[in-house]
Amino acid sequence: MTRRIAFFDSGIGGITVLHEALRLLPHEDYIYYADTLNAPYGTREKHEVKKLVSDAVGFIVHQGVKAVVIACNTATSAAVEDLRRLYSIPIIGMEPAVKPAVEKNGRDHKRVIVTATPLTLKEEKLRNLIDRVDNEHIVDLLPLPELVKFAERYEFSGEEVTDYIRSEFGSFELEQYGTVVLGCTHFIYFKSILADILPSHIDIIDGNRGTVSNLKKIMENRGEPGEGYGRVEFFCSGEPVTEAAELEKMNILFRILSDQNNKKTG
Ligand code: DGL
Repeated sequence: MTRRIAFFDSGIGGITVLHEALRLLPHEDYIYYADTLNAPYGTREKHEVKKLVSDAVGFIVHQGVKAVVIACNTATSAAVEDLRRLYSIPIIGMEPAVKPAVEKNGRDHKRVIVTATPLTLKEEKLRNLIDRVDNEHIVDLLPLPELVKFAERYEFSGEEVTDYIRSEFGSFELEQYGTVVLGCTHFIYFKSILADILPSHIDIIDGNRGTVSNLKKIMENRGEPGEGYGRVEFFCSGEPVTEAAELEKMNILFRILSDQNNKKTG
């Protein structure tokens, strides 16, 4: 069997990145590992997340993969440097799309809201990125931990979700803002609902395309072209996902993502 590419997240967030990879790299086969027993990560302490990620990636690498995508901003901030020191295969992480947002809004004299989990927003990785690119101090931060919980319950719309989003954005003077950055892969499922709630002049952007383009470039540079068919094997906290009901859930997620993409391009 050809060596596969692994995607890892605390739960279903990384499926949004895998979905992008299936479009951009259809000739690879994949493993998707969700640490559902321990999700959410974003409200935990850094040392706990480091340990959970290290255990999960240890299991994943043991499956004989050729690269690991840490399809989780929280796990990337807490653990990607350690993983890169430990493994010789490429370890690709997420980076919130702060740079393009700051470039665009600097020109337009608007501000940027970066949303992520509490741990990602606290971490040095994001702080350093903001220090590097945000010379005009136009970035504000907004933790949205409940969106992770809603997503893990497959609750992607409805009154509770909209009330939460409205109240979290309620303290911002939204006409001053030009972009909301989604710095958590779970938040991608709420892109359409966010677009409906936020004023229409606000762009909503994420780092998924950037991460997958980076993966593609790395694979091309290593001269290991995929010989697969876009097959995906799912694992939840170390157990293979075989039940039809679980697999049907994955299909639901793919459908949500495809619908969002069609809405964008349609
Ligand atoms: N999907 C994750 C992220 O991108 C983590 C969510 C969580 O487990 O709190 O940050």
